[in-house]
Amino acid sequence: MNSPSGPANKSVKSFQRRLWDRFVAPSPEIQQPDQRRQAALLTGFLLGTIVVAVAAELVTLSFADWENYQGWRVTLVMVVVLGLLYRLSRTRHTRPTAMASIVLMSAAVFAAGLAEPRGILGGLMDFLILPLWLGSLYLTLSQLAVLVLLDLAALLALPWLAPDVALDYVLVGPVTFLLGTSILLFVITIHRDRLEQDRQAELIRKEAESQREAARAHALLRVAERLNAQMDLETLFEVICEEITQALDTPASTLALYEPGMERMVTVAGVGLPAAALQLFPRYPLDVYKSAIGQLGDVFAAADIPATVGSIDMQVYRDLNCRSIAVATICYNDEIIGYVNAISLAERREFSGDELLLLRGIADQAALALINTRLYKDARRRLENLQALRAIDIAITANHDLADMLAVALEQITNRLDVDAAAILIFNRASQRFEFAAGRGFSTQTLKFTGLKLGEGMAGRAAQERRILHVPDLVNDPKSLIQAPALQKEGFVSYFAAPLIVADEVRGVLEVFHRTLLDPEREWLDFLEALSGQTAIAIENSSLFDDLLRSHAELFEAYDSTIEGWSHALDLRDRETEGHTRRVTELTLKLARAMGLEGGALVHIRRGALLHDIGKMGIPDDILLKEGPLTDEEWVIMRRHPVFAFEMLNSIRYLRPALEIPYAHHEKWDGSGYPFGLEGEQIPFSARIFSVVDVWDALTSDRPYRQALSRADALAHIEGQAGKHFDPQVVERFLPLVREANELSATSQAGM
Ligand code: C2E
Ligand code: SIN
Ligand code: SIN
Ligand code: FE
Ligand code: FE
Repeated sequence: MNSPSGPANKSVKSFQRRLWDRFVAPSPEIQQPDQRRQAALLTGFLLGTIVVAVAAELVTLSFADWENYQGWRVTLVMVVVLGLLYRLSRTRHTRPTAMASIVLMSAAVFAAGLAEPRGILGGLMDFLILPLWLGSLYLTLSQLAVLVLLDLAALLALPWLAPDVALDYVLVGPVTFLLGTSILLFVITIHRDRLEQDRQAELIRKEAESQREAARAHALLRVAERLNAQMDLETLFEVICEEITQALDTPASTLALYEPGMERMVTVAGVGLPAAALQLFPRYPLDVYKSAIGQLGDVFAAADIPATVGSIDMQVYRDLNCRSIAVATICYNDEIIGYVNAISLAERREFSGDELLLLRGIADQAALALINTRLYKDARRRLENLQALRAIDIAITANHDLADMLAVALEQITNRLDVDAAAILIFNRASQRFEFAAGRGFSTQTLKFTGLKLGEGMAGRAAQERRILHVPDLVNDPKSLIQAPALQKEGFVSYFAAPLIVADEVRGVLEVFHRTLLDPEREWLDFLEALSGQTAIAIENSSLFDDLLRSHAELFEAYDSTIEGWSHALDLRDRETEGHTRRVTELTLKLARAMGLEGGALVHIRRGALLHDIGKMGIPDDILLKEGPLTDEEWVIMRRHPVFAFEMLNSIRYLRPALEIPYAHHEKWDGSGYPFGLEGEQIPFSARIFSVVDVWDALTSDRPYRQALSRADALAHIEGQAGKHFDPQVVERFLPLVREANELSATSQAGM
């Protein structure tokens, strides 16, 4: 309802359509649009002719005043025949129908003329133009010529066949007309054929063009797919060259990239040429390249490689047997990234515009892939750099050993900066020199003896100037390093010195060496700086820790000398036991080692032995120094000395592990000891070891309350107390130890 004309239009159309389908539409067996059009035209022509013939006959019948007019019979026959042809034209046999129509129509005109010679005079023969016209549509030019000639011959024969028709009339009338119109028809037909040929040629050209375009699009798609799959730059270079040789069907291809630092184009990859040849290609300065493409365009070809391009000699191409070349510049955002070459070897090759377009397409794809891969590589490198810093960080927190830390730092530095060797010099405050601390990648020992003052040598200067110093070429600049003559064997070419600064203080210098030219980018230098900072922190950290450790050691030493002082004071007070503490300490350590103890346990045993009777400090002189047996009350006090020791020492944290001996050295294996009456393995092992030594030394020494026993008697006593006073296993280890010492002293005495 919104479009009132719609349904009406539709019904009109469908009425025409129905008429068309009913009377004209060619056989559905004919598929080709042009053939359908030809068939429809023939059908339409025949239909039209029938209608015209019928109408003309009706007019003739109504107006002709000729007597005995019989012409309508011919017309009737003709209409029937045309009707048959019309039927036939609606089958798939268009061409035979057309031929038959032409022949029959021509014959019919003649038949009509012969049947009614007056018609000839009335211009009937001019109807021959109809089959001729039809012939121009369905016949070849020669067939058409034959038809015209047959018509003319028949016309000339007419005066013999129809006596009423004079030859001069035929010549002036139908022959002239037919000749004139035929020539016109020929001209038009030839022209139409030419137009058709042109159209066909154009079609074929367009077809080929679009096929090439499709092929190019296909090739580019393939290239894009392959290039985008590459995440590694070197592989990507190779793939770009491979794709070019395939797409342009050349034996060789190369890829050059712009090298930002050097402002030049450097060939980085190639296929179809010896790998070593890549080095030989000219390295165009960027401005030379730019002026070349300014003249030649960013895609161009040379069927014969010129002798020079700008100021650059192209001889190397000839040496490699390169003959023709196609070049496309690789650009990204108007920035020249590089260029690609397709190269023919030996054979001369004209690169078509199409091929250049394809090469340009590949160059565009290459640009994207290169940028993507570089971005990816950059991102990955940044991540790896971060991880390198983190690795040093972890080494710093996990390790307090400077050598370990520096080893980790140097590993990260050489790997991440991709350099052959690196060394770390640390500032020694005492000597006021930068001294070699660690190195990696050196084949000689040269640097191990480095000791540079501030400002001395490159390293000393880097420290003084607090900035990274660079010697780009040690070979041509040999005097820059003090160690240069000795370093020559290493074959270094590039050198960097970076100061190691923490909290504004230069702690050392990082030296980086490389055996080929290094021309690092900004990012590399930044990373060198970051690594230096981290290394400086490592050094700082370790020296902080060293300081701490040192002060600890000093403290421990102070503690131990305090302990020794105490025990010595005690020995002095206990007069007769002079030297006892030192002896029991030494012998206890010996026995402890024999019992399998080691390391930190011995430290505590030593301290415990030194302090074992420290509790006697709390025993009054009159009991301690009493010459004679103790009374029961005196014994009560005397037996408190282990507990006094515990009370005195327990508050000193680092001595706590050493308390076992002072508080348990009077416990006995059978549980009859004091202060707690511990039994067997309840008694700390160290105390079980110690008590054997303590009693042995007491027995073999003079005491205020008795004289020393002989060694033999003392040994007999110890042996007798195994399993009672002493741990039998300790006694077992103790006896040989003392006998051995006995024999040794006996021998040495004998030797004197
Ligand atoms: P001390 O003189 O250093 O003796 C240490 C341990 O060696 C004694 O622990 C004891 O187990 C053993 N010992 C020392 N001398 C002898 C001895 O002649 N015979 C035997 N069988 N064992 C001996 P103990 O007995 O718990 O004594 C602890 C400390 O008490 C002694 O250290 C000493 O300073 C004091 N003491 C022990 N007995 C006497 C005594 O008769 N007179 C005096 N004035 N002090 C004594
Ligand atoms: C070195 O040998 O460690 C470097 C000396 C210098 O930088 O001059
Ligand atoms: C010692 O032998 O020096 C002291 C003995 C003990 O305290 O039992
Ligand atoms: Fe004691
Ligand atoms: Fe003792």
